[in-house]
Amino acid sequence: MTASNKTTDQIAGNQVAGDRVAIFDTTLRDGEQSPGCSMNLDEKLRVAATLEELGVDIIEAGFPIASNGDFEAVRRVANMVKSCSVAGLARAHPKDIDRSWEALRGAARPRIHTFIATSPLHMKYKLQMTPEDVHQAVVDSVGRARNLCDDVEWSCEDGTRSDHDFLCRTVESAIKAGASTINVPDTVGYTVPTEFAALIAMLYERVPNIDQAVISTHCHNDLGLAVANSLAGVGAGARQVECTINGLGERAGNCALEEIVMALRTRADALTCTTGIDTTKIAPASHLVSTITGFQVQPNKAIVGANAFAHESGIHQDGFLKNSETYEIMTPESVGLKASTLVMGKHSGRHAFREKLKELGYSDLGDNAINDAFSRFKDLADKKKDIFDEDIVALVDDAALRGNDRIKFLSLQVIAGSKGPQTAELELEVEGLIVKTKTEGNGPVDAIFNAIHELCPHDGQLQLYQVHAVTEGTDAQAEVTVRLSENGKSVNGMGADADTLVSSARAYIHALNKLVVKRGKGVPEAISA
Ligand code: KIV
Ligand code: ZN
Repeated sequence: MTASNKTTDQIAGNQVAGDRVAIFDTTLRDGEQSPGCSMNLDEKLRVAATLEELGVDIIEAGFPIASNGDFEAVRRVANMVKSCSVAGLARAHPKDIDRSWEALRGAARPRIHTFIATSPLHMKYKLQMTPEDVHQAVVDSVGRARNLCDDVEWSCEDGTRSDHDFLCRTVESAIKAGASTINVPDTVGYTVPTEFAALIAMLYERVPNIDQAVISTHCHNDLGLAVANSLAGVGAGARQVECTINGLGERAGNCALEEIVMALRTRADALTCTTGIDTTKIAPASHLVSTITGFQVQPNKAIVGANAFAHESGIHQDGFLKNSETYEIMTPESVGLKASTLVMGKHSGRHAFREKLKELGYSDLGDNAINDAFSRFKDLADKKKDIFDEDIVALVDDAALRGNDRIKFLSLQVIAGSKGPQTAELELEVEGLIVKTKTEGNGPVDAIFNAIHELCPHDGQLQLYQVHAVTEGTDAQAEVTVRLSENGKSVNGMGADADTLVSSARAYIHALNKLVVKRGKGVPEAISA
């Protein structure tokens, strides 16, 4: 049996067939497993809504047994999303599978994704199980999942380092037990394209009931080969690719959604497979995920890096101006990047601002977020001559992130410079109470963070402080990311403003609000004194 023998009818329980590749996004599960990349419930819902608009086929929303927070996130995503499948991960334990189903049962299209390692190394040292026990666990776990849910995916963790005979036997048994998707993870990012293609071809060749399932790839990027390996898998007949926005994921990450999708689209002549992704939504999705996680996209990153469509050298610019195809294999518009246009100024009114928001894809913002963004837009227009689309996106993202913050930024006055001491005079509103302080520090940012600490005592440790200019020019807004960790949990905060120090305060306060919510306690007492 080869991939080309497949027909729509043969791929039971799945929406895709033939040359259509299903995009399984795992930003909310494997992506969230990146160290330092935690998302709260609201953020996960925003990412899920964006993935649905992007047109992914399956959203893996989390690992329900991992924590109550993960369970709730999967449940809420499952209940919200309508046009794609929602998957929840489960180990091969009855409790995992039942918990996953509990979280997923409200979904329009639920999928239980269960896995167990099949490589000799993982079975012996991690699981401490014999191959026979693992085989039985596959039969039992897939069978249990299939009794609950019509759509079951099974993954052979560390599949690329598994013994072929054993792999074929477990895949055949998983399909017999009811799995309609067989995912082959390259868990440690070890394989190379020719080897991975041969592995997928081997499964088509040797597993007698393989025609009853879709083969899926799940490639990690430890050797920088995740996209190449996934494409090789597709070439050998895989019809689902597991991937994440911006390539987030454990260690070096996963196959990047934007790269595999644009490779399939741009080289349709060579790769002959399509996806259901609306590629014009890629850039906003990438921006949202990087804003929420605080993981900045490197400038030269394919498709979504700031330089991905920039032409710097004279020879390139000359060729590009004569015919853009000389140096551009895809257009910025095709991934949702518009040429940055000067659109708004200090005379623009609320109506124009709302229209602009719609044009930028923010059609469902609440009135509070719009009002907040509009008043900050007016402030910005007073300070900054040219307001670009990127400025408005940064303002709106900043306003939307603040939601129901219990600690609110009110004002900041800083003395900086070489003479010292650098001081920060900060005013906050904490659960309705206005509090102020003036502190010194080792530089202005330190002074601000000390002031916040004084007003809101906490044990959070600063893990990351990062500044990024939203546009060009010295009057550009600064987008600041702050990561705080407390008791092994970390949160990211983001702030945007034309003043880098104000952005820094906003970002720190945003992170602190998230810590307060994570702790589940009120704001510490000392601040209201
Ligand atoms: O990398 C991996 O093996 C995984 C599985 C749980 C699918 O993420
Ligand atoms: Zn993984």
